[in-house]
Amino acid sequence: MWPSKDLFILVAISLTSRLPKAGETIHGHKFFTGFGGKGANQCVQAARLGARTSIICKVGSDSFGNDYIENFKRNGIPTVNISFEYTESFFLGQNVIVIVAGANLLLDSEDLKKANHIICKAKVMVCQLEITPATSLEALKMAHANGVKTLFNPAPALADLDPQFYTHSDIFCCNETEAEIITGIPVGNPEDAGKVGLTLLERGCKLVIVTLGAEGCVLVSVDERIPKHVPTGKVAAVDTTGAGDSFVGALAFYLAYYPHLSMEEVIKKSNFIASVSVQASGTQTSFPKRKDLPQDLF
Ligand SMILES: Nc1ncnc2c1ncn2[C@@H]1O[C@H](COP(=O)(O)OP(=O)(O)O)[C@@H](O)[C@H]1O
Ligand SMILES: *[C@@H]1O[C@H](CO)[C@@H](O)[C@H](O)[C@H]1NC(C)=O
Ligand SMILES: *[C@@H]1O[C@H](CO)[C@@H](O)[C@H](O)[C@H]1NC(C)=O
Repeated sequence: MWPSKDLFILVAISLTSRLPKAGETIHGHKFFTGFGGKGANQCVQAARLGARTSIICKVGSDSFGNDYIENFKRNGIPTVNISFEYTESFFLGQNVIVIVAGANLLLDSEDLKKANHIICKAKVMVCQLEITPATSLEALKMAHANGVKTLFNPAPALADLDPQFYTHSDIFCCNETEAEIITGIPVGNPEDAGKVGLTLLERGCKLVIVTLGAEGCVLVSVDERIPKHVPTGKVAAVDTTGAGDSFVGALAFYLAYYPHLSMEEVIKKSNFIASVSVQASGTQTSFPKRKDLPQDLF
């Protein structure tokens, strides 16, 4: 049985079409554990903060598919396995929903329709661009049509992003590189990030967050139209891989569970969580768990 509507997040993610080996770099993305993919990382971070989660996935019936699912299980994230061959499954009744495609392009409109009942009950849905943009956009639209808050992370970035992504994202969250690819504005400081935010508001965004590594983030919203720099504390960074995913996962968690917090407060807390992740090596391995964090974050 599904619990009440305000308990779901949906994250669309995918794997690369071939299996990464530990430490191998594919398309510039380093897999330390082999269980990456931005959406998967984001989901794991949200789960470690205490979000109850589910995954809708499309994995092969090979050992990697099984290991991949096992990794989610270890993180307390049950899976809905939409297999390559046919659909089956499922674990219902969790807080964070992830769609995993076994390979780019495989997750399609039909799969989304099968997941419609899940999307409708989500509180927040997080999408990236590791599945086809059309599928990602359709998922955002489905969520929007059902009053589900949408958090869009345009990664990897596309220069000619469909303008509908702006209007169907309640929150548009990108890093400096993605910001530049999308707007053509090079970002080296909070002021530049503010310009990106204002440009994206003109394109139809309601709320833009540009992450700036050790500088924290810049927030620009349609309500104020004045860029707000939200700095983060100084830490001794060991490995910043996956910091953006830790940030997005934390953001999704707070949006779903603490909807009364101001955006600035949500960003401060998410900055803090991501800053913990950069103090250890690896991607998912560096993501903090709720029990190891200061309890005033919750
Ligand atoms: N060196 C750092 N010190 C403290 N926080 C950091 C550092 N690097 C990243 N962060 C945190 O992680 C968030 C995302 O980092 P960023 O580098 O912008 O993302 P990405 O991993 O996508 O490149 C930042 O907004 C900040 O909160
Ligand atoms: C996913 O479902 C398919 C079809 O039922 C099955 O063959 C496969 O082993 C499942 N994969 C995992 C990892 O559960
Ligand atoms: C931003 O994220 C992309 C993935 O979309 C990554 O390749 C890039 O290195 C990141 N940029 C920064 C400044 O960390």
